[in-house]
Amino acid sequence: MARITASVYTSHVPAIGAALDLGKANEPYWQKVFSGYNFSKQWMKDHRPDVIFLVYNDHATAFSLEMIPTFAIGTAAEYAPADEGWGPRPVPKVVGHPVLASHIAQSVIQDDFDLTIVNRMDVDHGLTVPLSLMCGTQDPATGAWPCPVIPFAVNVVQYPVPSGRRCFMLGQAIRRAVQRFDEPLNVHIWGTGGMSHQLQGPRAGLINREWDNQFLDELIASPAQLAQRPHVDYVREAGSEGIELVMWLIARGAMADVAGGPAPRVAHRFYHVPASNTAVGHLILEEQS
Ligand code: DHB
Ligand code: FE
Repeated sequence: MARITASVYTSHVPAIGAALDLGKANEPYWQKVFSGYNFSKQWMKDHRPDVIFLVYNDHATAFSLEMIPTFAIGTAAEYAPADEGWGPRPVPKVVGHPVLASHIAQSVIQDDFDLTIVNRMDVDHGLTVPLSLMCGTQDPATGAWPCPVIPFAVNVVQYPVPSGRRCFMLGQAIRRAVQRFDEPLNVHIWGTGGMSHQLQGPRAGLINREWDNQFLDELIASPAQLAQRPHVDYVREAGSEGIELVMWLIARGAMADVAGGPAPRVAHRFYHVPASNTAVGHLILEEQS
């Protein structure tokens, strides 16, 4: 059967993609951000998955305000990097895994979560920036991401957005779905977005280091308790876009300890301020067999 062997958490700041694409990664400002991912790029080579189940949010790119799925699973064979206003990022297309994605859709919907099935979409910085951070730069013409990716988009842009509790339960259903897949695939699940940031209004620029680090502590040690936190806490403490962090609870809910198994090992932890208007947080949790 397929197995989830690790979960990865990272912010997706679009300016990180721009810094990479415009050759600014070696500037001191950006070096401080990228230094937190040197370990991770090597770790990805040493623990190469067969498939990444990548939980992210679309920023009104593939889904406009005309159509807003709460949870959408990508079942396509491939996904093009989106044009977010400056042309598509010069990164390889994202290859999907339609067979596993369709199986997960079947299992999770039968497990009472209503997913939207997406057979065609472009993917924005919410998905491509985490891939760049974890996998390094790739030539868009000749390069490729290291493995297929199943994009899983969560609405955290237009209220009402799903609760942390619902996200945590969904992660548990995704774990069951992966375990029911009859091929020995090594699957990583990623939770992306966050950490504290607010992009508009009088509180624009809000960063809350203490809250972010407590979120990381609780995500590691007491995720079920963290999942009970209401939206208003995220928005008040971590800013309006800090609500992206509920997506991390999907990945965390898919780990073994939530289903009664052993606690994961913290392979890597990183926190840095600032990257553009955002605090950057990053964790790698490995399952202990
Ligand atoms: C910024 C951060 C985001 O997460 C995003 O989606 C857009 C902009 C920023 O820090 O500028
Ligand atoms: Fe965002």
